[in-house]
Amino acid sequence: MDSFELNKIAGAVLGALTVTLTLNAVAGLVFGQHEPEKPGYEVAALDESGGGDAGGGAAAAAPIEARLAKADPAKGEAAAKKCGACHSFEKGGAAKAGPNLYGIVGLKHAHMEGFGYSAAMKATTDKTWDFANLDHWIENPKGYISGTSMAFAGIKNPEERANLLAYLNKNSDSPQPLPAAPAEGEKPAAAGGEKGAAAPAAGGGDFKALVAAADVKKGEAVAKKCGACHSFDKGGPAKAGPNLYGIVGLKHAHMEGFGYSAAMKATSDKVWDVDNLGHWLENPKAYVPGTSMAFAGIKSLEERAALIAYLNKNSDAPVDLGAAGGGDAKPADAKPADPKPSEPAPAAPAPDAAKPAEGGDTPAAPAEPAPAPQEGAAPGQPGATPPAEQPK
Ligand code: HEC
Ligand code: HEC
Repeated sequence: MDSFELNKIAGAVLGALTVTLTLNAVAGLVFGQHEPEKPGYEVAALDESGGGDAGGGAAAAAPIEARLAKADPAKGEAAAKKCGACHSFEKGGAAKAGPNLYGIVGLKHAHMEGFGYSAAMKATTDKTWDFANLDHWIENPKGYISGTSMAFAGIKNPEERANLLAYLNKNSDSPQPLPAAPAEGEKPAAAGGEKGAAAPAAGGGDFKALVAAADVKKGEAVAKKCGACHSFDKGGPAKAGPNLYGIVGLKHAHMEGFGYSAAMKATSDKVWDVDNLGHWLENPKAYVPGTSMAFAGIKSLEERAALIAYLNKNSDAPVDLGAAGGGDAKPADAKPADPKPSEPAPAAPAPDAAKPAEGGDTPAAPAEPAPAPQEGAAPGQPGATPPAEQPK
């Protein structure tokens, strides 16, 4: 196009901005200035993509362990009123639209005999409800089990979920011990501390540490599982999937001209980092419901860590796994992850500055606050359920 056309476009953009600013100013005068209740947070969640994404959604939240340590079961009991239309909570209570939830923490998925669970939920009966997966589930049921019949949008407020979990845990014959809160790195920024999200959640740091310590060679071997669909060399072609050279630090749906699914494209404001890659590779369909990547996921935490260590190294600008955590991470076991003198490229910052969603998705949620050996290493994972279970 010629420069005249460019000028016209620039003019149009400026015009639109001016109108927006003016409207904002007027709205400000009329309605008073409001802080958005949750700056950036909701934007980061994949709400439009049909079911959303727990990984991104939880991005700004402190790890569940830390939130539970401060949780208030009395407030949680109040929050549980949101569930009361469909669930009873007392011991031996009847099923309503949903199953009874007495003592749910520590019970198996689809625990209530005779209740008409969805096929998607029944496919996960090898898993046990624990704090981490309940947190994920309550935030976004369809993001956790696409195809669930629980018609509930989810509770986006991380503190509210923690309170609710504290209540659910107490409402039991055998309450579970609360998982230990991360000793350090967790800022007591608490209340609505989205800004504090600039400092990554400590749970994320744990996985990062695993990746930092992982065996890159092993990861390269694991990457053979991806080779049918992905090339890894610089400038390599797309196959069934996009080229993955330098993927850590690139945007979602980064490869120009590749035919991504609508679901993946809807997340193109997010940057791939160690934590969300961990989540994605564990269960692609849970991370991006509606993705076209037909891959069940890698259930072994060690394999994922090694694979991501390899993906990170296979790059012009590997992310510094020791320090990319934003200062909380100790350089303690700082291995020379990056042999070159080149600057470590922190996973995300600049690109996101474009949108209002400050701190949206960078230090992604602790994909797995991984307290105990996670249940669900078995193949009956949600992501492994037939495609018929897609949310839309
Ligand atoms: C509109 C009705 C509805 C609401 C509201 C609702 N649920 Fe559910 N819930 C269901 C249904 C239906 C199922 C079964 C889902 C399936 O089989 O896929 C379910 C399943 C569950 C399960 C799994 C139980 C098991 O046996 O594995 C948990 C846990 C749960 N709900 C918690 C909650 C909580 C906590 C809330 C409130 C924050 C809530 N639900 C709100 C309908 C609801
Ligand atoms: C059966 C083919 C297939 C296999 C096997 C597969 N992928 Fe994919 N992958 C795809 C497709 C297709 C997409 C695009 C998904 C979409 O648009 O929803 C994709 C997308 C991705 C993306 C996002 C890239 C971007 O530009 O945002 C990453 C990262 C990724 N895959 C990693 C892997 C890794 C690592 C493995 C091996 C553990 C793997 N994939 C195995 C087909 C595959």
